[in-house]
Amino acid sequence: MDYIPGLQGVPATRSSISYLDGQRGILTYRGYPIVELARRSTFEESAYLLLNGELPGVRELADFDGELRRNRRVKYNVRDIMTFLPIDGHPMEMLQTCVASLGMFYPGSERMTADGAGPTADFVNSTAVKILSSMATLVAMWEHIRRGDDPVPPRADLGYAENFLYMMNEREPDPLETRIMDACLVLHAEHTINASTFAALVCGSTLAAPNLVVASAIGTLAGPLHGGANQRVLEMLEGIGSVDRVDAWLEQRLATKQVVWGFGHREYKVKDPRADILQGLLEELREHRGQLSPLYDIAKALEAAAEARLAPKGVYPNVDFYSGLLYEELGIPRDQFTPIFAISRTAGWLAHWKEQLANNRIYRPTQEYTGPEVRSYVPMTQRG
Ligand code: COA
Repeated sequence: MDYIPGLQGVPATRSSISYLDGQRGILTYRGYPIVELARRSTFEESAYLLLNGELPGVRELADFDGELRRNRRVKYNVRDIMTFLPIDGHPMEMLQTCVASLGMFYPGSERMTADGAGPTADFVNSTAVKILSSMATLVAMWEHIRRGDDPVPPRADLGYAENFLYMMNEREPDPLETRIMDACLVLHAEHTINASTFAALVCGSTLAAPNLVVASAIGTLAGPLHGGANQRVLEMLEGIGSVDRVDAWLEQRLATKQVVWGFGHREYKVKDPRADILQGLLEELREHRGQLSPLYDIAKALEAAAEARLAPKGVYPNVDFYSGLLYEELGIPRDQFTPIFAISRTAGWLAHWKEQLANNRIYRPTQEYTGPEVRSYVPMTQRG
């Protein structure tokens, strides 16, 4: 077997959770096209679908949603941990720290191995709900703590997306803002076996506790090659400055072999279906509000200008091109974009964790050794 850098193209698992056809721009969760789910589902319902394989019935959704609402509060000790973190630290580091600590405040991970055969269904489902529910609380809580304010407590009478925006901005969002947030959470919830999902699978395969599985995935998502390009898109659009400078900027950018942030994807060779949906939501928001940030006009002009130059290479807008613009319109600070991605992707990570537990085998790949032959230890006095 040849060594393949990055394991590109190497099947590392079997999964029935999501499917991606990058040539045709199709992404499905459990067979349902993402376009339909973003328009018609909610994050709660899509998370249930990912975790359990089928869309819930009325009763099942009410029970699952009720559990999510009941589990929104986190222990004050977790909040205490936050107060000791530097306020200018990156929120992804805060999130990984706090999620990693959850197992100490909500013990029970011994049930992972209680009968030697892995955890019970009850443990898997209840901890998945606890973690999924806590994610939004932690991200919003940090927003206030780092400003020196008291966190806004979660409300049990609001849905997941609405409650998150309420906790972040300390005001109830309007229905369109809620729908946009909900669609963003649905769209980012799962994307086959990417780097962070693989990290979750590797950690999960050791039967580590689920909060540690999610903490591993958060650390992996934090890198700029995975989460985070949407923040750079906004900085790039600001750098361009105005619509009439787009052509010259693009010319110079490509001539100096620099990437256009928010364009291109390892898997998609057509426009990312998620980018289309997000752009549609920006249009709706523009109609609703009368106007949007001028950065949106620059983004559209850039997409049009890039069509002739990048489309022949199969390079089109990806999910990050328009998502940051939407988050900014919702009042979310730029360094919180990737934590929001993590909130949403927790549904996918935990779905893969659960799927793998049913047929678990610890990951233990091999390596090609490139070091020296066996040799004798040289005492310090003889090393010069
Ligand atoms: N801007 C300009 N040119 C791009 C480009 C971009 N964003 N993405 C790819 N290209 C060009 C490459 O330079 C290459 O050109 P060449 O054939 O003349 O050398 C060609 O398109 C093929 O690209 P390739 O390197 O095969 O793509 P990839 O699949 O290896 O890379 C990404 C995928 C995501 C790493 C890459 O598109 C990128 O860096 N995008 C910007 C970062 C980003 O938005 N990331 C979020 C992804 S969701």
